[in-house]
Amino acid sequence: MSRKKVGVLISGRGSNMSALIEATKSPDYPAEIVGVLSNKAAAPGLLTAQENGIATASLAQSKFLSREMFEDMMTQILEGWEVDYVCLAGFMRILGEDFVLHWQGRMINIHPSLLPLYKGLDTHARVLAAGDAEHGCTVHFVTPGLDEGPAILQARVPVLSGDTPETLTARVLVEEHKIYPQALAMLARGEVSL
Ligand code: GRF
Repeated sequence: MSRKKVGVLISGRGSNMSALIEATKSPDYPAEIVGVLSNKAAAPGLLTAQENGIATASLAQSKFLSREMFEDMMTQILEGWEVDYVCLAGFMRILGEDFVLHWQGRMINIHPSLLPLYKGLDTHARVLAAGDAEHGCTVHFVTPGLDEGPAILQARVPVLSGDTPETLTARVLVEEHKIYPQALAMLARGEVSL
């Protein structure tokens, strides 16, 4: 079996990246992580990737004259790693249209809500404020509109009385770590496409 090559973009702790790395340790998993790119040099996820023998790079957007130049460099790095797919895993920058269109159909993201509900930030607090009975997470294709691309997989969790943003975050995160590797496997096997 030839495994698809995947680049992961992170900004922080990288727990979803870690879940992807763990999944790739199974011999029949159809993809491997060949590089992890962060826009923050201090992202703890970079160390985790290095400990797993994965190439890493960090790029600060502030060092570039424009977002386009920053994103072109990201594409150059990803193409240097010869990636087939890109996984956004807590990458906390909105990506420009050129970058998104370049990778469209080959780039997926994990978002902590039942999209199309609660696009954007602070989803857990917003779900609690709205009094919703359930919440969850979505793996979706990345398209130019923020958090708007078609969903590949979703997982649902109940909202329990007494939940805080922290307890709800933790409950959703457990599900994120399950569905992200599943969705990437579906993509790598050609079972889903945009
Ligand atoms: C996760 O909640 C993910 O859904 C969102 O950003 C967070 C990243 O967490 N896109 P981690 O870095 O994967 O731990």
